Amino acid sequence: MTSNQPAKATPPTSKLDWNNLGFSEREVNGHVRVTYRDGQWQDLEWHTDPNLNLHVAATCLNYGQQCFEGIKAFRTSRDSVHIFRPQENSKRLNLSARMASMPEVPEDLFLRALKAAVAGNLEFVPPYKPKASNGALYIRPLLIASGPRLILDSPSEFTFIVWVSPVGSLYGSSSSIPAVDAFVLDTFDRTAPLGTGHTKLGGNYAPVFRPTAEAKKKGYPITLHLDSATRTHIDEFSTSNALAIKQNHQGDQVTLVVPESTSILRSVTKLSVCQIAEKICGWKVELRPVSFEEVKANSFSEFMAAGTAAGITPVRSISFNSKPPILLKGDGSSDDDHQGPKFGLPEDNEVIRIDLGDGKTAGANAQRLFDELTSYQCGDQPDQFGWLWPA
Ligand code: COI
Repeated sequence: MTSNQPAKATPPTSKLDWNNLGFSEREVNGHVRVTYRDGQWQDLEWHTDPNLNLHVAATCLNYGQQCFEGIKAFRTSRDSVHIFRPQENSKRLNLSARMASMPEVPEDLFLRALKAAVAGNLEFVPPYKPKASNGALYIRPLLIASGPRLILDSPSEFTFIVWVSPVGSLYGSSSSIPAVDAFVLDTFDRTAPLGTGHTKLGGNYAPVFRPTAEAKKKGYPITLHLDSATRTHIDEFSTSNALAIKQNHQGDQVTLVVPESTSILRSVTKLSVCQIAEKICGWKVELRPVSFEEVKANSFSEFMAAGTAAGITPVRSISFNSKPPILLKGDGSSDDDHQGPKFGLPEDNEVIRIDLGDGKTAGANAQRLFDELTSYQCGDQPDQFGWLWPA
């Protein structure tokens, strides 16, 4: 069913303000659903109603048995539409599916579902490189255990859904590439070293809503997590992977430093940026554990977030608690013990801020990676890496 011909041009709808998209769920034409029943995947279905009818005992609702992906489709200057590296997300979805004891979605089915979801919503693919929005059609593949089961075991029915929404930048709303202030969350452990952090389970995300909302209120749109075992190394941001830049004193040798950890997601954007850094920019790429001390010592000239939703988001400052975190410990016998870790951010006078570059704008190397990546995504460059898949 998959063809190598790009989708026929359907112009972007005039009903949306493409320069002010933001990052939210929007009403579109419909979504794709595929049911797993009787031990096999059934045919693709197109649904216009975004609501699902689920049994109250569905294990996705009760036990969080689900996983998801994030992918983007872009419009080229020739008005064709391409999906960026969906095969990588297919592999990662199946890694998450195995983690959550769900059946894998065969790659061919995954790609057909994506193609159908995009083809049915072509007018929601933003215009080619709209200057003011970093626009793309965000594709959200979602695999849920939709069957009922009270005991801790998998049901016999699962549903694979692909829904889409036109989006702009996750951070910032202006035309320039936004540079954000980050805060290191040392009072909350995101995922365990041998746990689920390398997979995209919803359960990794809901617990960060509260601490990240508190950080946002204090002026930090993005939060950085440390490794849960020792809290001495950089894991990733709540929304995306972390990347750092090191330069020699002359500034003519650039190294892209990529934190390694067992509990972070294998970001497709990060993988792409590593290839660009090495093959296009001629930089050194260093994959290794990155200690928090290196960040505190201001050893990096630039820092950035990399992810499907985040794209390349430069970080202009990193702030952290100057004191060791106060964690509640207890035997569960007092009311306080049930509060869990204190999420509250430290007082402003207890925070240390490290400025990166001029502390205001994107550094030159982050800007270069952003420009190179978007030029491949929008088809401005010949697709030498084979990253674009015609929708
Ligand atoms: C993505 O980058 O696709 C994600 O799922 C991150 C999420 C915070 C929007």
